[in-house]
Amino acid sequence: MYKKVHQNLQQWYQDNGRHELPWRQTDDAYKIWVSEVMLQQTQVKTVLERFYFPFLETFPTLKDLADAHEDDVLKMWEGLGYYTRCRNLHKTAQICHDKLPESVEELVKLPGIGQSTAHAVAAFAYHTPVPILDANVKRILYRVFGLKEAKEKVLWEKAYAFFDKTDPYHYNQAMMDIGATLCQAKNTDCTHCPFESVCKAAQDDPLLYPQKKAKKDTPKRVRHLVVHERDGKYALRQRETRLLHGLWGFVEYEQPQDATVVGEILHKYTHFHLYATVYHTSKTIDNVSWFTPQQIKALPLSGADHKVLALLEHP
Ligand code: ADE
Repeated sequence: MYKKVHQNLQQWYQDNGRHELPWRQTDDAYKIWVSEVMLQQTQVKTVLERFYFPFLETFPTLKDLADAHEDDVLKMWEGLGYYTRCRNLHKTAQICHDKLPESVEELVKLPGIGQSTAHAVAAFAYHTPVPILDANVKRILYRVFGLKEAKEKVLWEKAYAFFDKTDPYHYNQAMMDIGATLCQAKNTDCTHCPFESVCKAAQDDPLLYPQKKAKKDTPKRVRHLVVHERDGKYALRQRETRLLHGLWGFVEYEQPQDATVVGEILHKYTHFHLYATVYHTSKTIDNVSWFTPQQIKALPLSGADHKVLALLEHP
């Protein structure tokens, strides 16, 4: 049904695709899976420039990752955020050990692999004939089918109806690239788009698809972080909160006492902005580990705790 459009897409991809992306130049399922997990919430540029290569140099195979200590895996993830992704990556490596499964059904059973990642791994790592459905592909489908809003289930149905069963690997990579270039959220170039002839939104204003939801203000969280210092060492705890589980950080208090204010930090997470007042005290404390600033730099630390460390060095 979409034969001509698929041909246009394949031609467009040959001429304009980002063929040089390293996860498109390998057939190592492990490397492709790592790239997909990194790319879930992080831009290609950041993954490429700072994370993909160092991570794979440290953990070149699934087995190396499975055998690694969680602290070392988190350290390589430091700065990428969404640390649950990293802990799940490690757990999945430990479950699979030397080979990731090939089918969507088996992949979704693994920690951190939802429908979207399972489809991406099946399609990109094993060339399984399934469509992918990430934010870019969703936007294209909203527009091609002229949908202002749609449930996840409907988008999957459209994805399955629309994809190129004859060359799913290149089709899916091309969809990523169309979403990143011609069919961006706030910018479109329909005249160069291989879908123009079938795209409903192209006949209207494409930016109206999908309909934007009113944006809520990002909530603020106010916290107090206390730096306990003893013999040139600082007290840290390994966090147990869902967000930063496993990362080391300074001690948090509801109401600090006998501590002097050093300054304030602001750290922006996607769903809230953290405003923390930072205090210093030489009072001792139990249930912590003591580290020199040099030792701290070798631990996995959250972005906010890095800012506290910087504040201590340059108050
Ligand atoms: N984002 C997620 N997967 C990708 C891929 N294979 N290429 C480019 N961007 C991506």
